[in-house]
Amino acid sequence: MIFENFWFSTYNSPMTSSLLPAPQLSWPVNWHDIFGREAALLLEIGFGGGHFLVDLAQKRPSANVLGVEISLPALDRAQRKIKTGVLGNVRLLQSDARYLLQALCAPESLAEVYINFPDPWPKARQLHRRLINVDFLHLLATRLVPGGLLDIATDHADYALAITEALEATPYFRSRLATTFVTEDNERLRTKYEQIGLAEGRICHYYKWERRKTAVPNQYPVPKEFPMPHVVLHSPLNLDEIQAQYGRWQFSVDNCHINFMELFRAKAEDALFVETYIKEEPVTQRLGLVIRQREPGNYVISLHELGFPRPTLGVQRAIGQLATWLLGLHEEATLLHHNLQPEVLEREVNHAA
Ligand SMILES: C[S@@+](CC[C@H](N)C(=O)[O-])C[C@H]1O[C@@H](n2cnc3c(N)ncnc32)[C@H](O)[C@@H]1O
Repeated sequence: MIFENFWFSTYNSPMTSSLLPAPQLSWPVNWHDIFGREAALLLEIGFGGGHFLVDLAQKRPSANVLGVEISLPALDRAQRKIKTGVLGNVRLLQSDARYLLQALCAPESLAEVYINFPDPWPKARQLHRRLINVDFLHLLATRLVPGGLLDIATDHADYALAITEALEATPYFRSRLATTFVTEDNERLRTKYEQIGLAEGRICHYYKWERRKTAVPNQYPVPKEFPMPHVVLHSPLNLDEIQAQYGRWQFSVDNCHINFMELFRAKAEDALFVETYIKEEPVTQRLGLVIRQREPGNYVISLHELGFPRPTLGVQRAIGQLATWLLGLHEEATLLHHNLQPEVLEREVNHAA
């Protein structure tokens, strides 16, 4: 009910709230439904104060404009600007850009992407945090329409070198300019970091590229959700005995990392709650798995619904692992029923049963 009310106000009143409820958006999002009309979708990644985003939305009223930011204070500032400007064609999302691109954007759904002054992460040990590299450009190419535009600007000389190399090494883009980049662009609105860079005497690099029309192999599938997973099993152990044997552990399979953390006893019901961290690119979730006693000796392991968890393959694997562990605690424990995917079964539950 709370979800419906929130969604209703967000969807129907773009002038009062342009912020989208990131955890509740479907994979991928139908952006035409979100904006209430069919139009070219323009994205700014890391909009900071939001000046460029607001300017873009004002200059392009016939486009749907989406801004993604990880910083909450930046989102607040941009939201205030959008309200002041009474702009109906712009939506904001608090998310990591990679998650937005891979999970929320269908292949070939974006018409234009703008990245202004991405964080340069100048120290050697931080280089891996830079957003733009060959892999990221490949992901972007899968989400841009053929001929879609990609504009990047930076005032960081070393990052500029890396961006130049990455763009030139990626076969899916070509420059719209005669050169890889230019160092002057007086057409565009200057962003806050651009003004700082210029005031401090740094050279800005402006890249204006486009996606080639040739096909781009999609190595970045939109993540899938499955029916709410559960395993039913019998064990002669009671909840106290199960709780006593629990210890934190973690495991990894096929780029999916699962960390079983604290275990809590639910006071009001016959259940154990296992705080679990699951990382499976591009999705990271911290959620609760529940071992619930239906009747003495019969247990159901399932996903707690608190906080809009997404029932991914990683969640299935986590439930399979937890079931495997529980079955392994007693030789008379038996698996009664489950709805996990066959591959999870083979690796986890069947292995132990
Ligand atoms: C150096 S600031 C530039 C802000 C603005 N574009 C400008 O030019 O003034 C970089 C911005 O990117 C955001 N950012 C960094 N990594 C991000 C990511 N992975 N996804 C979305 N936003 C990101 C940061 O929070 C920050 O606001």
